[in-house]
Amino acid sequence: MIEAKTTEIKMTEAKTTEAKRPTINWMDVLWLVLLALLAVLPPVREYHKQLILLAFGILQLNEGWLIARTPKRGDAYIVLLKIALATLLLDHTGEIPINSYYYPIYYLPAVTAAEYFGPWATLFWTSLASVAYCSYLYPALQEYEITGEDYGRLAIRIVFFFLAAMVVNRFVVESRRQTQRYQELAATLAETNRRLEQAQAEARRSERLAALGQLSAGLAHEIRNPLGVIKGSAEMLTQKLGDSNPLATELSGYISTETNRLSALVTRFLDFARPLHADLTPQDITAILDRALHDVAQFWKGSPVRVEKEYQPGLPLVPLDESLSEQAFVNIVQNSYDAMAPNGGQLRVSVRKSRTGDRNDDRAGGMVDGVEVRIDDSGPGIPLELREQIFNPFVTTKKTGVGLGLSIVSKIIDGHHGTIRIEAPDNFADEKAAGEPGSNVAGPGAHFVIFLPAANEQSAVGKSAHLVIS
Ligand SMILES: Nc1ncnc2c1ncn2[C@@H]1O[C@H](COP(=O)(O)OP(=O)(O)OP(=O)(O)O)[C@@H](O)[C@H]1O
Ligand SMILES: [Mg+2]
Repeated sequence: MIEAKTTEIKMTEAKTTEAKRPTINWMDVLWLVLLALLAVLPPVREYHKQLILLAFGILQLNEGWLIARTPKRGDAYIVLLKIALATLLLDHTGEIPINSYYYPIYYLPAVTAAEYFGPWATLFWTSLASVAYCSYLYPALQEYEITGEDYGRLAIRIVFFFLAAMVVNRFVVESRRQTQRYQELAATLAETNRRLEQAQAEARRSERLAALGQLSAGLAHEIRNPLGVIKGSAEMLTQKLGDSNPLATELSGYISTETNRLSALVTRFLDFARPLHADLTPQDITAILDRALHDVAQFWKGSPVRVEKEYQPGLPLVPLDESLSEQAFVNIVQNSYDAMAPNGGQLRVSVRKSRTGDRNDDRAGGMVDGVEVRIDDSGPGIPLELREQIFNPFVTTKKTGVGLGLSIVSKIIDGHHGTIRIEAPDNFADEKAAGEPGSNVAGPGAHFVIFLPAANEQSAVGKSAHLVIS
């Protein structure tokens, strides 16, 4: 069945190529010259013969066009017409048509069939051409006696029809196979190229992150000391003033709380910028996910969010730093809650075993076993133009956001030799419809897919390991 389908595709390809052919090319001209040569060879005064040769010429010139017009059976009609014309030609080129010197004209339908069809169909069409040729045996038998030798000669001619058809067919089938191989090769190359570009984009992102990280670290470090002095001074001022000056006390209170906020922010910057120390031990990832979900849910004050979990049983352990991975999941889940804050919604967390290609890993042909965590929410989704930059630091659409959450996530996942990507919503139409006034379609939602390699005996991170994620 598959074979049949492939043959069909190949045939369609052949037809399309034919249809695109220029109306007259040099091969067609050569054809016409050869037919003209036949026309000036005896019998010259037999105008039926000339008409038939003309018909052959017209058919040849319009073959591509005819096949394009009737894509379903065009090729079959062409072969049939050629058999009919060949049979007519024999009738007008010899007293006894079966003895006509023009009998090789049957090579034309046989070779045409070989060009357009598979081996079995070629055999069929060549048989039909042979039957048409042999049909002239009947009138010959009425008038003459045909000897065994004559039958032998006839058989030789017919076997040559088949021979020519099969040689051409074999060549055509082989060339189609080669074309398909080249197409597959081209597709593989395109895919490799795509992966390479993706890897380059990731590398550029990492470089940018590293540069920004250094800058943030330097700045945060410099800001931290004066902040400590301001905070200490404000607290001393509050103590010294006591109740004597309520306004000054209130103002120094503001200084204190705002300094605390700034200090927390600086700590966040440093989390992002500083090398993180990770102690990787094989962990049950679902327990960590549960904790992250609980952490976010317990402080949630917006509209209700329904959480749905789907954990595949028998998941492998994953080498993780408990607190860092929990922080990464908290950041993602918190974003989903934030996105659904106005109307509430549904958060779906699923974990399953997975196997993915890792260009840095040579084991098992570059395939790595692990787990795939999907976090899908029913919020408004992430705008297309933001998807490229979302893991870069300081990209935020929130009034009070810093834009560091996902860049910290990306850093942690990278440090765990994992990957994170955003998947487009299933149905782009839904994505468009969502948000349109009067539309009933829920938000297209954000879909995060995280892959983490499983604990592996041979892996450096298979058992406990201490890593510095910079
Ligand atoms: N689940 C989501 N749905 C819709 N938009 C999202 C989602 N997750 C992230 N985003 C978008 O990506 C931006 C960056 O997220 P990120 O977590 O890095 O920063 P943030 O949440 O804005 O600030 P913070 O540093 O406090 O986390 C967000 O401002 C938001 O626009
Ligand atoms: Mg965030």
